[in-house]
Amino acid sequence: MSDRRRLLLAHSFWPQGRHGSSWRLPGAGILWESNPAYYRDAVLTAERGLFDYVFVGSLEAARLPDVATLAGSSTPRKGWRGAGGSGHYWSQNTLFKADPFTTLAYLAGISNEVGLIATFNTVYHHPYSVARQATSLDLLSGGRAGLNAVTGWTPDAARNFGLEDAPTDEARWAQAEEFVQVLRALWDGWEDGWLVGDKDSGIYMDPSRVHAADFRGQYFDVAGPLNLPPSPQRRLPLVVAGTSERSVQFGGEYADIRFVAFNDDQAESYRVQKDAAAAHGRDPESYIQMAGVTFYVGESSAAAHAKFREVQELSTVPFEAASLGSYLGVDLGDAGPDEKVNDVIDVGATATPWLIRDALAGYGSDDITLAELDRFVSNAPGNQPSVVGSGHEVADWIEESFVERKFDGVVVFSPYQPDSLDAFVDLVVPELQRRGLFRTSYEAGTLRGRLGLS
Ligand SMILES: Cc1cc2nc3c(=O)[nH]c(=O)nc-3n(C[C@H](O)[C@H](O)[C@H](O)COP(=O)(O)O)c2cc1C
Repeated sequence: MSDRRRLLLAHSFWPQGRHGSSWRLPGAGILWESNPAYYRDAVLTAERGLFDYVFVGSLEAARLPDVATLAGSSTPRKGWRGAGGSGHYWSQNTLFKADPFTTLAYLAGISNEVGLIATFNTVYHHPYSVARQATSLDLLSGGRAGLNAVTGWTPDAARNFGLEDAPTDEARWAQAEEFVQVLRALWDGWEDGWLVGDKDSGIYMDPSRVHAADFRGQYFDVAGPLNLPPSPQRRLPLVVAGTSERSVQFGGEYADIRFVAFNDDQAESYRVQKDAAAAHGRDPESYIQMAGVTFYVGESSAAAHAKFREVQELSTVPFEAASLGSYLGVDLGDAGPDEKVNDVIDVGATATPWLIRDALAGYGSDDITLAELDRFVSNAPGNQPSVVGSGHEVADWIEESFVERKFDGVVVFSPYQPDSLDAFVDLVVPELQRRGLFRTSYEAGTLRGRLGLS
């Protein structure tokens, strides 16, 4: 990475809006997971904002409401409630998931500059196929492809691939490690100079410069070489996410980017991740920390808070003091929906003080009711804060967190569709540019080069 840290921006597609009820807004689509126009507009908006990359996540199962029940959620109808801890929740967002490589191949033909990062699952996919898909995407996009390795954890996905249950945490990360080693062996198989292409002599190639992978492991046996020439980046930038110590080690050794759930200890976890890279002999500055954040941006602070409130009020989750209390880790007794949060809850004594602070900040008031809090927590993304404000205020938050080394960049999640990404691009990006924090045009080169990775 260059001497001067550069803020990075990315966008994660969330066709129905990240807020569980925002699909009810006028103008929001009700089935945009399969709508090409949605992806086209979003990628062009991200590129207009000079974003570093767009990102397609993945799940390997259709998550119906009753699947959440089977997986252990007590109250699937509670939308996002439960996402903070168990990971088992239901929202229409997890019902369908478009295939990342297919989606990004389509977007490679529409966009020109922005990076295209595809998620693959290291348990349910095979490294030869992923190396081939990823290399194809890099070739077709002129060096803009990247990969996001996930290890999944849900039994419903396992059952789609002939397994009774997801392998243990340890086994999943061990398999992920081998997966990446195979990818590298395949990507490194074609040495520079393999192509002769001499029409006069008729010599096409130099086979001595092509090397088999000959990989034999616990999970994969792969002969190689890959049946594609090296792509512009050859080894694609790799993203990883996870919360365990094992995933920290994995990321420190293999990943170029870590996708983190922004939390209270962000500065500390930022340092832990950087140390993990240093422990593997890497330059910590080239291990990028990206935090997912949901932004509500308005022309003014008041407009942004009004939008936040409008979206929360779409919630259909009925108020239940017991349910809200159990989620927050406090006993709310038989408190009514109109009681004030500050009268009834000692925020510091709850299990999720950050979530309540997020709600207060989102509404832009310390005077919210339990019903208002409930609407927020039962639809809010469990692992991303909502940042609400004018372009100037949101840029302040980003600048401060960046300077305090809480992240190297943010993955912008759209809380609602269709225009929350536009608001970020039109109101926040110019402010970041004015402060010299963000690029004003794309640099030449590949995704890897633009990310400042060696
Ligand atoms: C912020 C974050 C995002 C994730 N996104 C996905 C995803 O899109 N698809 C998926 O199958 N797993 C996803 N995972 C799950 C991880 O790949 C991993 O399986 C899980 O976190 C368990 O590993 P851990 O114990 O190290 O956290 C995500 C995890 C985190 C923390």
